[in-house]
Amino acid sequence: MNDDDHIERMFGTSGSPSNQRATKYTCARHGEYEPNQRNWHDRDVCPQCIADGEAIKAPWKAAWAEYSRWQHAQIPEHFRNRRLGNYRPHTENARQALAASRELVSKRIRALALIGDVGTGKTHLSVGILAAAIREGSSGLWVHVPTLLREWRATFSKGSEQSEEQILQRLQHAQVLVLDECGATSRTEWELNAISMLIDERYRNGGAIVITGNLPHLAAGIGERGADRIDEMGVTLALTGASYRTRAVDDPGLKVDDDFIKPPTRIRWTVCEAGIDRVEAREW
Ligand SMILES: Nc1ncnc2c1ncn2[C@@H]1O[C@H](COP(=O)(O)OP(=O)(O)O)[C@@H](O)[C@H]1O
Ligand SMILES: [Mg+2]
Ligand SMILES: [Zn+2]
Repeated sequence: MNDDDHIERMFGTSGSPSNQRATKYTCARHGEYEPNQRNWHDRDVCPQCIADGEAIKAPWKAAWAEYSRWQHAQIPEHFRNRRLGNYRPHTENARQALAASRELVSKRIRALALIGDVGTGKTHLSVGILAAAIREGSSGLWVHVPTLLREWRATFSKGSEQSEEQILQRLQHAQVLVLDECGATSRTEWELNAISMLIDERYRNGGAIVITGNLPHLAAGIGERGADRIDEMGVTLALTGASYRTRAVDDPGLKVDDDFIKPPTRIRWTVCEAGIDRVEAREW
């Protein structure tokens, strides 16, 4: 028994002929239909037209949700078209890193640390992972670690615009968190604790994490404790060799557009109400 049946029984309206509308309407698209008395706001609207409207709205809403997850991920402009699909596995290292990236997207691992030389595609892969995860329905956030640490530290001074709480909430909210450029020659105790704390949060709350850094070994950038956690949740891979940066200029695969497309802000469809066509619209 659904709610409407329940209400009908309570008020004794069900089956009483005086309350039943006899009028039948004709939808130009779907033919004759009974007045719909289930939902007050939908009465007299053709049920098939309502179903058609839902079928138009649902993918539009999903497209907007996906697009806004992508916007909220804060990918740097220059990397917005980088995908796992346009990363060339041109060395054994690169092949392994790409395979591990796909494992993170498919949730077989929850952590991936990419360390090693500059220009080997660590940032590229981190963006590719976010794009793929967002397509699969997850939320993501790309974070430049030196900037984060600077902003985080700034919250301790009086009159700071954002609070520490705001920064941390934003980070916790993401299902896939990228900490880019964790490489640093020397880290203060506070910095190591801050990074460990972020990794611990992932560990406890079930999120995934991608770490990149121009580092000889992971612990140098994120501390022993953080590195242990990453090992527990996933893998650390070294990307070594020549920088791809000069080759990137001529790589046609990198000249494609960002494929997250902004859906239309307004959609319209026609419904039949009491035998008369009427346009319904939704704005984003
Ligand atoms: N294997 C690869 N296939 C395609 N492009 C790559 C590859 N490796 C690196 N690139 C491109 O080379 C440039 C440098 O890579 P980047 O991700 O910035 O390196 P890193 O973060 O390791 O320093 C970027 O434009 C990136 O998209
Ligand atoms: Mg980088
Ligand atoms: Zn209809």
